[in-house]
Amino acid sequence: MNRMERPEIWGTLKDAPDIREKIRVFEEVIPDDVDTILDVGCGDGAITNALGRRWTVTGVDSSSAALRHVTTEAVLGDARSLPFADGSFDLVMSSQMLEHLDDESYADALSELRRITRAYLLISVPFREDLGSRMIRCPRCGLQQHVWGHLRGFTPESLIRDLTDFEARDVRTFGDLQPPAWPAPLLWVMHNIYGSWYPPEGQHAQCARCGNTDFGAMRTSRPFLGLVKRAIDRIGFRSGYPFWLAVLARRQLPGQGDQSDRPPWRLARGQVGGSVAGERVREPR
Ligand SMILES: C[S@@+](CC[C@H](N)C(=O)[O-])C[C@H]1O[C@@H](n2cnc3c(N)ncnc32)[C@H](O)[C@@H]1O
Ligand SMILES: [Zn+2]
Repeated sequence: MNRMERPEIWGTLKDAPDIREKIRVFEEVIPDDVDTILDVGCGDGAITNALGRRWTVTGVDSSSAALRHVTTEAVLGDARSLPFADGSFDLVMSSQMLEHLDDESYADALSELRRITRAYLLISVPFREDLGSRMIRCPRCGLQQHVWGHLRGFTPESLIRDLTDFEARDVRTFGDLQPPAWPAPLLWVMHNIYGSWYPPEGQHAQCARCGNTDFGAMRTSRPFLGLVKRAIDRIGFRSGYPFWLAVLARRQLPGQGDQSDRPPWRLARGQVGGSVAGERVREPR
């Protein structure tokens, strides 16, 4: 069974502190001239349902198990090809979905989001995620994969660049601070010499190749290398950064053209590594 169709994954998120934080940030950044919202990859509606109290929201997801919890209008569909007309929602959002897509699906999904919105995109993805540090290895078939199936990482720059013909209006990082990235050689030793991987407990991990969900035989301890990593972080003054990135972007008006000589957004000083949950990091025009 596809991981996203497992019923036990869904219905428990709505009161989680990080979901509440996301709802608060989204409510703050959604512009005043928005009435209708399409939430693509809405999952169990933990965010969708909350936004539905204030806006007219439609959720779409490819998991029927997740959609059972959605209380707004809900549509079973694939982000790569959506059954909505061009410009049919004031704002199209997607939270924590794009990092799950391979290159081709990512390009197709983004072009659908850009096609369907009348004006705004609101995209949230993990901020500079250290994908390598969350790798697991299937004890049954040997596949190495990210514990949640993430396939891609994002910086504000990379995400904004991918939103062709849209201009960033608000760029925020928020949420719990995550530890600094593992140095690649240390990670290599941990995986290939120690044979030790990310602890999958409570993460509903599932092998993307053979479907295995039992990772009990996978080694997860990292005592010595964990100490080395902490020492490197301390000596290099490496500090953590917020887990989430959210970008609000607006369709460029005709004739506005390339904005690359004049970045329309900036990261606030001290934002990376600081506790700046929800802080506004883009100055409005
Ligand atoms: C990590 S959940 C995020 C749920 C919710 N948006 C949130 O922020 O909590 C990712 C969701 O994206 C959905 N998804 C993944 N690929 C999809 C696709 N191609 N089309 C539609 N939904 C997709 C999954 O079914 C899952 O519900
Ligand atoms: Zn496997």
